[in-house]
Amino acid sequence: MAVLVTGGAGFIGSHTVVELMNGGYDVVVVDNLINSSSKSLDRVQEITGKPVKFYKADILDAAALDKIFEENEIDSVIHFAGLKAVGESVQKPWEYYNNNITGSLVLFDVMKKHGVKNIIFSSSATVYGTPAEIPVTEKCPKGEITNPYGQTKSMLEQMLTDIQKADPEWNVILLRYFNPIGAHKSGKIGENPNGIPNNLMPYVTQVAVGKLKCLGVFGDDYDTPDGTGVRDYIHVVDLAIGHVKSIEKLKENPGLKIYNLGTGTGYSVLDIVKNFEAATGVNVPYEIKPRRAGDIATNYADASLAKEELGWVAERGIKEMCEDAWRWQSNNPNGFEE
Ligand code: NAD
Ligand code: UD1
Repeated sequence: MAVLVTGGAGFIGSHTVVELMNGGYDVVVVDNLINSSSKSLDRVQEITGKPVKFYKADILDAAALDKIFEENEIDSVIHFAGLKAVGESVQKPWEYYNNNITGSLVLFDVMKKHGVKNIIFSSSATVYGTPAEIPVTEKCPKGEITNPYGQTKSMLEQMLTDIQKADPEWNVILLRYFNPIGAHKSGKIGENPNGIPNNLMPYVTQVAVGKLKCLGVFGDDYDTPDGTGVRDYIHVVDLAIGHVKSIEKLKENPGLKIYNLGTGTGYSVLDIVKNFEAATGVNVPYEIKPRRAGDIATNYADASLAKEELGWVAERGIKEMCEDAWRWQSNNPNGFEE
């Protein structure tokens, strides 16, 4: 039996495919490559020594998905495929709702048709809005979400919750990721944003490699120890392993489960700069800029439920996250392009 990984050529998907294959799972990847390169899967093959079964297809294409389910014995799905740029989603809500919501509904429908009722969904800490308490537990109510990207995560959580309620044979695990950074130790796969990065770590590594001049630090007047925003950065390999643990959990027919995947530790923007400089020996010039709209001061996880129920904890610390992000970026200054 195989695990279908939608969006498996992307940043988190490719790392998860590595961990699944190393764990002995058969994996089938579907991705339309709208935000990735099939070279990531060539690199996965180099890392694991095994070929990756890949379909270049859009999850909006029911016939293409149908064929994948016909040709493979799939028993569970890890659903990463989606558009994920917060700012862009404000400009292009139609595209975000169509791709993320309609695409997911097509996927769920094809799963149902083929009697596949096990799914792990990529959600985000963004569903908590401004969290009611820190560290954030899964019991925290969902908060006010300020952008269409975040809305799609919240809506898809609700849809899967309702689907599982209507048909208890479904097993649904909603994983709320905190801030994934880092890269595989080999330096062969990593985060490869289009254009100027929105997220902190890819911006830092592109300044370090000389592609960008100077990091803008968005606000130094937050109510945090040094005034800059605090987040729960998690190594992408730890996050990937969290998916393998969740696949194991699905075998217990758990019904609906929700887990935070984070480390439980918060680092400020300046902590990241200092840790990156210490880990790599590369200087990262920065200047303080105004706050970015929609940002919150502090967000970090209480990840104890994932520890209790999945037997999962994030093991890689900030030094390793910085070293690995840097190895990827310095070996591949233009990502997967030659
Ligand atoms: P990514 O863009 O690298 O990966 C997403 C993949 O999905 C890409 O390879 C893209 O080509 C593919 N895709 C998009 N639309 C598709 C479609 N219609 N059909 C087929 N493939 C499609 O992003 P990522 O960082 O790896 O994120 C993976 C998932 O995790 C996304 O759902 C994202 O929203 C979620 N997530 C990411 C973060 C983060 O910080 N990276 C945080 C929380 C949640
Ligand atoms: C952002 C998204 C969130 C999404 C997550 C993962 C917003 C408002 N939130 O979270 O919905 O789930 O990415 O993709 O976009 N920072 C700088 N300079 C930069 C970039 C970031 O100072 O150039 C700061 C930010 O203000 C923040 C921290 O670094 O304090 C982390 O930012 P980022 O990596 O964008 O993640 P989030 O804002 O936590």
